[in-house]
Amino acid sequence: MNKKRIVIGISGASGTIYGIRLLEVLSQILEIETHVVISKATELVMKHEIPELSIKDIQTLADHLHDSNDFSAPIASGSFLFDGMVVAPCSMKTLACIANGLSLNLLLRACDVCIKQGRKLILMPRESPLSVIHLENMLKLARLGVHIVPPIPGFYTKPQTVEDIINFSVGRVLDLLDIKHNLFKRWGNKMK
Ligand SMILES: Cc1cc2nc3c(=O)[nH]c(=O)nc-3n(C[C@H](O)[C@H](O)[C@H](O)COP(=O)(O)O)c2cc1C
Repeated sequence: MNKKRIVIGISGASGTIYGIRLLEVLSQILEIETHVVISKATELVMKHEIPELSIKDIQTLADHLHDSNDFSAPIASGSFLFDGMVVAPCSMKTLACIANGLSLNLLLRACDVCIKQGRKLILMPRESPLSVIHLENMLKLARLGVHIVPPIPGFYTKPQTVEDIINFSVGRVLDLLDIKHNLFKRWGNKMK
């Protein structure tokens, strides 16, 4: 079976749970192989936001968890084929590095590979308010074809729980990856 390969980068912005939820959903789809890379700062954010989860949990969900310093990992090379990459969440530092071609860690290198190879790259930037620097970096990347998908809830789905809010944004990313899901009710279908 030819599996669809998806790379997930998790950087140190608030909202590690977005990356983990995405991985959780993808891990339930047999036809998908996941490669995950987590920045150093993410571990600190995780400790603050979701102390009940650890890197071990991510390792259990991922098909491959790569060390962020390991530039010999397959995803560091353009010759290793994958179908798309999502950075969820994407910190402003990671955003700035991607926008400027700085491959300072494996996550950034994999993003650079995506851009140079013309592959699908989806970023979930998380910061508020956004400065002109942040906005310029996003605009530069959007012009290169990178999908900028900030985790912003749509309240027309009438979310009842934090999980509903997370699922909405993760679902929007899955739509862009052409992966079928049932994470939220679509406009036009009968709403809750
Ligand atoms: C609890 C916590 C929350 C943070 N939230 C954000 C955030 O929402 N957006 C952001 O750009 N940086 C945030 N930061 C700062 C980043 O972690 C920091 O800039 C780090 O250098 C990012 O590194 P990375 O992009 O390599 O993961 C947060 C830091 C902590 C400790």
